[in-house]
Amino acid sequence: MNVSIFGLGYVGCVGAACAARLGHHVIGNDISENKVRLISEGKPTIIEKEIDELMREGHEKGLIEATTDSRYAVLHSDLSFIVVGTPSTKEGHLNLTYVHNVAREIGEALRDKDTFHAVAIRSTVLPGTNREVGRIIAEASGKTVGRDFAVVSNPEFLREGTAVQDYLHPPLTLIGTDSEQAEAMFREFYKDIPGEFISTDIDVAEIMKYVNNTYHALKIVFGNEIGNICKALDIDSHKVMEIFCKDTQLNISPYYFKPGFAYGGSCLPKDSKALRTLAHDCYIDAPVIQAIDQSNQIQKKNALEIIESKGCSRIGILGLAFKAGTDDLRCSPIVDVAEELLGKGYDLKIYDRNVHISQLTGTNADFITAKLPHLHEIITDDLDAVAGASDVLVIANREKEFEELPEKYPHKVIIDLVRQYASLDYEGHYEGISWKNINQNPAQETEISMDRRRTDF
Ligand SMILES: NC(=O)c1ccc[n+]([C@@H]2O[C@H](COP(=O)([O-])OP(=O)(O)OC[C@H]3O[C@@H](n4cnc5c(N)ncnc54)[C@H](O)[C@@H]3O)[C@@H](O)[C@H]2O)c1
Repeated sequence: MNVSIFGLGYVGCVGAACAARLGHHVIGNDISENKVRLISEGKPTIIEKEIDELMREGHEKGLIEATTDSRYAVLHSDLSFIVVGTPSTKEGHLNLTYVHNVAREIGEALRDKDTFHAVAIRSTVLPGTNREVGRIIAEASGKTVGRDFAVVSNPEFLREGTAVQDYLHPPLTLIGTDSEQAEAMFREFYKDIPGEFISTDIDVAEIMKYVNNTYHALKIVFGNEIGNICKALDIDSHKVMEIFCKDTQLNISPYYFKPGFAYGGSCLPKDSKALRTLAHDCYIDAPVIQAIDQSNQIQKKNALEIIESKGCSRIGILGLAFKAGTDDLRCSPIVDVAEELLGKGYDLKIYDRNVHISQLTGTNADFITAKLPHLHEIITDDLDAVAGASDVLVIANREKEFEELPEKYPHKVIIDLVRQYASLDYEGHYEGISWKNINQNPAQETEISMDRRRTDF
């Protein structure tokens, strides 16, 4: 395929050499004449393993050229990659000036192009950038996004030092697009790259890089904090983390990675508290481990705020135990929410078919008696009775029977703390705790308000 790459710095240079290795014809573009000259001579603009050889090879095969003329680059390609820098402003927002400048240049060139053009944003940018780049290109070209051109989010996952191998053997290839034509072009472009090709929502693709990198940073500081605690106890942290990583069922796995309600139960709160206290006793500063409980408390507060925001006094909680299929109430996070609601005078009913007050024993009974002494007056195993007496239904654990709620009770306010539904067509009102509105029903009056300071595009 014929592709143009805007920005011949670190990522653009690797992209140009690797695209040529895949057999594509590449036109590099940069405002730096020096970088354009280097690439035109088959030389890389950066120091990186394997890049000299790949550049030379691409150059000798006539697959790589470079120019400062952005119009030439657009008119002689079907795909354009934007790989210019996206530095931070001093407040921490993204400076998108370079991305917007390239968008304008591409748009101006597209005025004179009759065929469909796909633009991929490969620079690391925040959600919303894609839409703005589409707007700029449409304005500069007089063309229509989605019909004459498309802007696709195609984040780059390479690491300096292993960039060529990371490009040619990525964990996955990701594009975010709503254009089938653009998707087909990218499938063709990446057809010889191994690993899963994922096409998803534009904003999902846009946020991925930030999620990945923040998680990588979290892994590093978590490993270091565990290491510091181990050192204070004269334990070999490398042996610890080696074994930790061997558990691919619970530790290095998708388990526990679903956004939802706070954790609870008899183990996670107790054991993470014990490690926190141990670190403290060893005079080890471990702020990430310390902050885990704080973050968990905030999620309970978030649930409470969503419930209260509905302005209804009759609340039904569905599921009181810390997870479905058990009667264990110890440190169940919804118990704290229930306690708050009762304290504020809400008319609360609770449904949990596994919890029978008279049968609770030991620490389980002690815990709930201390928290909700009058629980027996408000808890029942009759779902209809709770639904009938409530305007708001809060799903707090993942009982299978809750799947039928929208059909059985069509005009309630459902607050979902566990992502009970993948998608929904509900006449009532639905709000999930940590995901966008998934209710497709046009009658629903919600738009979750997003009145926050954002990156200035
Ligand atoms: N470096 C990495 O390891 C890495 C990895 C993944 C993603 N990224 C992201 O990729 C993007 C690029 O990073 P980089 O390290 O390659 O940056 P870089 O600064 O090395 O290169 C950017 C290039 O863009 C050029 N440029 C600026 N304005 C231009 C214009 N109007 N037209 C054409 N070229 C223009 C600059 O001259 C420069 O050569 C950033 O968003 C970065 O966050 C970087």
